[in-house]
Amino acid sequence: MAKKIASARISTQSSQLLQDLNNSLPFDKVLYREDIEGSQAHAYMLAQQGIISTEDYQKIDAGLREIRTEIEEGVFTLEGDDEDIHMAIEGRLTEKIGDAGKRLHTARSRNDQVALDFRLYVQRNTQAIAQLLLTNIQTLLEVAKAHSETMLPGMTHLQHAQPINFGYHMMAYASMFKRDYERFVNAYARNNYAPIGCAALAGTPHPIDRNITAQKLGFDAPTLNCLDTVSDRDFALDILFNISTMMMHMSRLSEELILWSASEFKWVTLSDRHATGSSIMPQKKNPDIPELLRGKTGRVNGNLIALLTVMKGLPLAYNKDMQEDKEGVFDSVRTALLSLQVLNEMIADMRVNTEAMERACMVGHLSATDLADYLVKEAGLPFRDAYHITGNVVNLAETKGVDISELTLSDLQRIDERIGEGVVALLDNRASMNARESQGGTATIRTLEQIAQLQAWLVTQEPND
Ligand code: ARG
Repeated sequence: MAKKIASARISTQSSQLLQDLNNSLPFDKVLYREDIEGSQAHAYMLAQQGIISTEDYQKIDAGLREIRTEIEEGVFTLEGDDEDIHMAIEGRLTEKIGDAGKRLHTARSRNDQVALDFRLYVQRNTQAIAQLLLTNIQTLLEVAKAHSETMLPGMTHLQHAQPINFGYHMMAYASMFKRDYERFVNAYARNNYAPIGCAALAGTPHPIDRNITAQKLGFDAPTLNCLDTVSDRDFALDILFNISTMMMHMSRLSEELILWSASEFKWVTLSDRHATGSSIMPQKKNPDIPELLRGKTGRVNGNLIALLTVMKGLPLAYNKDMQEDKEGVFDSVRTALLSLQVLNEMIADMRVNTEAMERACMVGHLSATDLADYLVKEAGLPFRDAYHITGNVVNLAETKGVDISELTLSDLQRIDERIGEGVVALLDNRASMNARESQGGTATIRTLEQIAQLQAWLVTQEPND
């Protein structure tokens, strides 16, 4: 039966079932570091303000340090029947240092305490995820640098459309991850305010100084309004949404890697470290890793929807429903950190099958648009007429069983004599790719420009401390 250090009103022991439902220690023990650091800062502030004595502060601080070591060395296991991490640590502190431990909770409630611990956890992991995004961007840049001339069919509707280069394709994902990175950085700044000192919901009559705790814990300032603060979980929703969006990008990249690994494509070969075999079919090599990254997007989306749903009907301020905020965030954070590391390794190790990609460019008349553009630019035809003539040229190529780029000048002139000599060169796939040199386009020189621009941006991003 649980000891009830926090219940003055409830005399009977709570039932085991109540404890099973109510206790968050089995999962919120993850927050032990944040809880201890928060308590150290709070006790420091209480002493600075003369609310507790310096001696008590010193005992509290030393006791909390010891508890941290006990936890990290597995001496204090956080497996007891305490309700949550806050009660477990406060209980252990009082066991160790007596009355001084009982003074720690002055001018504080578990409502601002949990808001603080959880926010610290979210802020730290926001930085960790942002850092891994930078690593992934750098890796994508390396692949892009190596493949700015490697052609593959760019697609729309998963149908061959126009020739692009593989570096350009990787830069599309690098651009997504840059936006993701910025989303995490923005969220960090938006949420970097300290909840501690809000007490239960209305502040406290004790002469606290919230600036001291805010500063000690690395926040920009205390939060504005305590009623909001103890019932605000927007910071948790921010990280969940940001993870979901990032995983959605990762899932799209994974989907392409899965497709490209299939026999029908064979555009990339994942290293054996990132593929697995089948238990029955000895010849198989399966892309389980990108499949899992794609699949894990489902669970992080679930975590986002779960918390949005928990929060939607809550009256101000704290309600116990909010204890449901943590497991989904822990799960999404764990998933994001692991997935980013795996993705980075997989991209760095994959082999790009340049020949297979370039061969695929000979299917689908990728340079057809160039003929239409030529007829507009050089022969002064309205685009719609040029489009129809080009359609006839494509039909001819189909009948002959060749790609449009393989037709001869006389083939072309048979369809329309306004097609001049220069066209044959224009219809070459590489010429077609390099003709798309408008800003942000796929021409190799433009791709290299994008790579240089993103690389320059990347070096300005400071690693977080
Ligand atoms: N374990 C609780 C949670 O995670 C801590 C806050 C409890 N506060 C309270 N007044 N019951 O939300």
